[in-house]
Amino acid sequence: MLKRFTVSIEQKLLNDFDTFMEQHHYKNRSEAIRDLIRSRFVENEWAADKDVMGVISLVYDHHQPQLQEKITELQHDSHHQIVSTTHVHMDHDNCLEVIIIRGKAAKVQELADNLIALRGVRYGKLAMNSTGEHLH
Ligand code: NI
Repeated sequence: MLKRFTVSIEQKLLNDFDTFMEQHHYKNRSEAIRDLIRSRFVENEWAADKDVMGVISLVYDHHQPQLQEKITELQHDSHHQIVSTTHVHMDHDNCLEVIIIRGKAAKVQELADNLIALRGVRYGKLAMNSTGEHLH
């Protein structure tokens, strides 16, 4: 059920918010505000070490000795948490691996850090997502 409420906000902040809305293609303020609130709640889930979903993406050169094995080994160590892994051979040298993982936020962060820190990983990123359980 949707509830309406009134918000008091400084003109400059509202202007910035409207600019944000346009840049991100929101059709109305309500949906933009809902998403900003949810975004902050997801940050809280991570800060409070709740059960979360994460997407780890890695770009690496598969010619780097032992690297492929280490990446696979780290994932097997967390096999109960790994939901899915997709590997893309992007060109002659570069691979992209995308790992979807579920678990306590600190554990997900730790696995991401360990993968990204491996020698030969050229770029790595953890996208912090939510199980959705606490999002409405
Ligand atoms: Ni590859």
